[in-house]
Amino acid sequence: MSNNNLVIFDTTMRDGEQSPGASMTKDEKVRIGKTLERLGVDVMEAGFAIASKGDFEAVKAVASVVKESTVCSLARANTKDIDAAAQALEPAPRRRIHTFIATSPIHMQYKLKMQPDQVVEAAVAAVKYARQFTDDVEFSAEDAGRSEPDFLCRIFEAVIAAGAGTINVPDTVGYALPYEFGNLIGNIIERTPNSDKAIFSVHCHNDLGLAVANSLAAVQQGARQVECTVNGLGERAGNASLEEIVMAMRVRKDLMELETGIDTTQIVPASRLVSSITGFPVQPNKAIVGANAFAHESGIHQDGVLKHRETYEIMSAEDVGWSANRMVLGKHSGRAAFKNRLEELGIMPSDENAFGDAFVRFKALADKKHDIFDEDLVALMTGDNASDGEVMFKLSDLEVSSKMGAVPEARVELDVQGEQVEMMAQGDGPVDAALKAIEKIAQSGAEIKLYNVNAINAGTESQGEVTVRLERAGRIVNGVGADTDIVVASARAYLHALNQMMRPQVRQHPQTSTV
Ligand code: KIV
Ligand code: ZN
Repeated sequence: MSNNNLVIFDTTMRDGEQSPGASMTKDEKVRIGKTLERLGVDVMEAGFAIASKGDFEAVKAVASVVKESTVCSLARANTKDIDAAAQALEPAPRRRIHTFIATSPIHMQYKLKMQPDQVVEAAVAAVKYARQFTDDVEFSAEDAGRSEPDFLCRIFEAVIAAGAGTINVPDTVGYALPYEFGNLIGNIIERTPNSDKAIFSVHCHNDLGLAVANSLAAVQQGARQVECTVNGLGERAGNASLEEIVMAMRVRKDLMELETGIDTTQIVPASRLVSSITGFPVQPNKAIVGANAFAHESGIHQDGVLKHRETYEIMSAEDVGWSANRMVLGKHSGRAAFKNRLEELGIMPSDENAFGDAFVRFKALADKKHDIFDEDLVALMTGDNASDGEVMFKLSDLEVSSKMGAVPEARVELDVQGEQVEMMAQGDGPVDAALKAIEKIAQSGAEIKLYNVNAINAGTESQGEVTVRLERAGRIVNGVGADTDIVVASARAYLHALNQMMRPQVRQHPQTSTV
């Protein structure tokens, strides 16, 4: 690989999944994996195989369908984790094991309760062990941002000698400032004797809103891999956002002088898919993928853009996929056209029955809505529509009465594992009444932490996409539902969240403990 290349390592399905409530099912990961492959990421971290049976299966499923990008699994520095990662990655033509251990004094003393020598020993043993399964092994020094540079050089020299081809330097807690982090990377590369035998990578968290700035500063000092996520999803305040890194590299090529393999026209479709699968809406003013990112409000700006686009725009909306993918389907579109578009968007379901159900939903939507855009298709294939496996609650019917000056009422009928149950409730508004009626049936005791409505396309005929976040006993889940009627969309989002809450989830967090 040429030194003019910046490796884009996407961790939406691993670190992104660590955002509270953003957990993804196997089918959802497969869909995201195909989308990331179309986007052109070099490496995708599909999960943490040891975390749960579900995540193991998800990594394996992604490894079975993705051919062009390298598929990676995280593993702590121990043989059990590495065995699980290797097994899950087996079907992938290109696979990487990413093993890590913490290196900062605070993590070594309080979390690992290990001496620095023991940490080096465990890291070397893990890399050697992982190399038995693949030539492509990455080593991360967790909390490198707060580690002693001398110790980082020591451990990196040892793991490179043991066979690690990529050395990742994470700012795990998002503490670094750009000039400081850039200097750290430059310094480590210069002082690690065998640094020319590895690609240096960075993985920045966004706790101070500096993840992208820190990553770019590191690239300027010699890092040649950036770990990032679609929409900047990730643990706590998230990771460096893929779309911002890629577009900064492209727009400021005059200074950055590196290429990525990303097809930037796939950025917005990827952002939309990740947002609807995870239930994390994209804020309107988010760079590149926010609804307002290319909207000029002020008259002076509009006038300038009309006269000469570059007066106020540094890149075009089309370059990042804002309108390139707005193919329209409608009521007269047949199965072939529908199937073709789902395939192009990478959201085609794996079995014929699921496709048949999706086509029925498509026809029902086309009866209500004249033009069906790609965004509608994504909504049709995600959220509550895409729940794999049996669900506890299904919406059978919903009726609301709402009149100025009167208390809104809702009548809800649910299919609860085959039995029809009906309930009425009043509320502060029709949505509130509908959700209260559902809760009277479900008796979940969950608290609504977020309720958000977005229009999927412009115009009043658009589908409303509703996100509901629920919390119960510390567990957070997100539900997404879309419909041309926002009360129905809200009920579906709430049921989607409830159905997820009902599934047991035992999932280990990668940063709990190690070795
Ligand atoms: O933030 C972090 O340190 C990580 C590592 C596991 C790479 O996510
Ligand atoms: Zn991280």
